[in-house]
Amino acid sequence: MAQIDLHLKERSYPIVVSKKSTTSLLRLLKTNVNKNRLFVFYDANFYALHGKKLAKELRTQFDYYEIILPSGEKTKSEKELSKIYAYLLSENIARTDFILAVGGGVTTDIVGYAAATTLRGIKWGAVPTTLLGMVDASIGGKTGINHKEGKNLVGAFWQPSFVFANILYLQTLQYREMIAGFGEILKYAGLLGKEMLSLAKKYIQNDNFYDTSLLYKLVVLSATYKAKIVKADEREGGKRMLLNFGHTVGHAIEKSLGYGKLLHGEAVLLGLLAAIKLSVLTGNASSDTLSTYVELIDMTVSKVPFKKLDVQVIQEALRSDKKRIDSKQKFILLKRIGQPIITDKVSQKEIVESIDYMLDIYKYGVNDSNA
Ligand SMILES: NC(=O)c1ccc[n+]([C@@H]2O[C@H](COP(=O)([O-])OP(=O)(O)OC[C@H]3O[C@@H](n4cnc5c(N)ncnc54)[C@H](O)[C@@H]3O)[C@@H](O)[C@H]2O)c1
Repeated sequence: MAQIDLHLKERSYPIVVSKKSTTSLLRLLKTNVNKNRLFVFYDANFYALHGKKLAKELRTQFDYYEIILPSGEKTKSEKELSKIYAYLLSENIARTDFILAVGGGVTTDIVGYAAATTLRGIKWGAVPTTLLGMVDASIGGKTGINHKEGKNLVGAFWQPSFVFANILYLQTLQYREMIAGFGEILKYAGLLGKEMLSLAKKYIQNDNFYDTSLLYKLVVLSATYKAKIVKADEREGGKRMLLNFGHTVGHAIEKSLGYGKLLHGEAVLLGLLAAIKLSVLTGNASSDTLSTYVELIDMTVSKVPFKKLDVQVIQEALRSDKKRIDSKQKFILLKRIGQPIITDKVSQKEIVESIDYMLDIYKYGVNDSNA
């Protein structure tokens, strides 16, 4: 078991990563729930696979209420949120009660937001059950839902009282979801440096995406890095932007295809390739320093289902994103592995070239591409 402490003054909390059992979860709950009520929200797929066992343990120890939410991105909606409000208010939830979100990023996002907004804020805990949830979505207090105008446009910063990640839950996660979660891990490897990169290499070469011991190490390193960034910049005014490495083009790909065609982490993998090429084209990095990194991403991208992408449509999606943010689009690039920079000094020509490069590798792989 590992415990990472996210230091945010009175909003500080532990992130506990376990590869054995739920004992630490019970300990974390006991310090937070006390004699009050515990409202647990589960992702439906997770509940069908592991929920009954967990529910049995919780029911015997707490004044326990359970709610099962439908799986999938559509759940992050106003409709589901208002059902959650209706349920909690009909049960006369009090500020002293506690909410637990058990599931992937969809569950922790919407339940965290319901916790933030019901009675102006109820304490909550996150139990991420997907790889992406463990390394990213459950950490840092960003909660919210989608709007017809776009993803994650309604939300709040509301830090949980703890995060508990049980690596064993990943054994039942679909292969594509593992690859998508690994996309975010490879992002951290680029930001963090060689130690994580060599661990990521071992994981890919091992060719067993369900290796508990390697997953445990990768989740601990990722969560530690994310906790450090969130501590430095809780509300994304500066340093937290680094976590968007690979996401500028990644988001544009998701948007240009229509959400849901590629998983978020799969699009991030492609976005990382474009960001690496841009780092070289803008003179920030030499291609040699990033070659091992490109090979690792290529080995992972080869497992992403092929979708036809169009440079112009991606560029258009980038432009509309830019309009929403400000007139100058910022990119996270690398000087070398472990040395990211934030810059807006990127030309349209360089963007097009980097997308071309990414598409070439996506289609043909790094060895057969012209890249
Ligand atoms: N708040 C943040 O900082 C942040 C960061 C990144 C992503 N996100 C959000 O996270 C969401 C994506 O999260 P996700 O990738 O976890 O998706 P998800 O929550 O939809 O989960 C993916 C799939 O895995 C299933 N599942 C969950 N746990 C399982 C288990 N242990 N075994 C088998 N199946 C399981 C789910 O039912 C679902 O079908 C997006 O909405 C994204 O916007 C938020």
